[in-house]
Amino acid sequence: MHKKILFLKKYLQDPQSIGSVIPSSEFLAKAMFRSIKELDKVNIIEIGAGTGAITKHISSLNPLLVEIDKEFCALLRQNYPNLTTINGCALEQLQQVDERFGLVLSIPLINNPFKTSFIPIIESLYSRGLLQWCVMYTYGFNDPLGEVNFQSKARKRFVVKNIPPASVWVYS
Ligand SMILES: C[S@@+](CC[C@H](N)C(=O)[O-])C[C@H]1O[C@@H](n2cnc3c(N)ncnc32)[C@H](O)[C@@H]1O
Repeated sequence: MHKKILFLKKYLQDPQSIGSVIPSSEFLAKAMFRSIKELDKVNIIEIGAGTGAITKHISSLNPLLVEIDKEFCALLRQNYPNLTTINGCALEQLQQVDERFGLVLSIPLINNPFKTSFIPIIESLYSRGLLQWCVMYTYGFNDPLGEVNFQSKARKRFVVKNIPPASVWVYS
């Protein structure tokens, strides 16, 4: 319950950056995990880990966690001491990547200025062969990374048991 209250508090402070009133459901997290398991095994970076709702289900894949909020980071470090958690902006962290990786993304892109800087960074990482795949969820119906020239893209799953219901998109 503590995680839900903290999440709601953060949402009220910065709705654009948090994007939803409660963390993702276990059903959405499991759908993300299933999609990731279908992809090539590479190092994983999870950006926007929040209170760890997705992390909990993908922790066995040893993701590097990036989260901008200090309090969320403290919680992630406490709950996942074996994972590396970076407190910082995903845009800066992604620009430092120099090896092949898969990206798990749960930073809201709808009406978020983050997207303007994020798209060219993703395009550059993908064209340089560093970004192997990206798995993300969205509450909207449109392709959230439509601007990026991925070879393959699909709305793989739709999860009703989440507030709000969400689609899982997979890009590679
Ligand atoms: C929709 S929440 C997702 C939280 C969690 N992954 C989940 O699914 O419940 C978005 C998260 O992205 C984080 N975030 C927003 N902008 C960010 C940025 N530029 N860099 C890193 N994290 C960011 C927020 O602090 C928040 O924890």
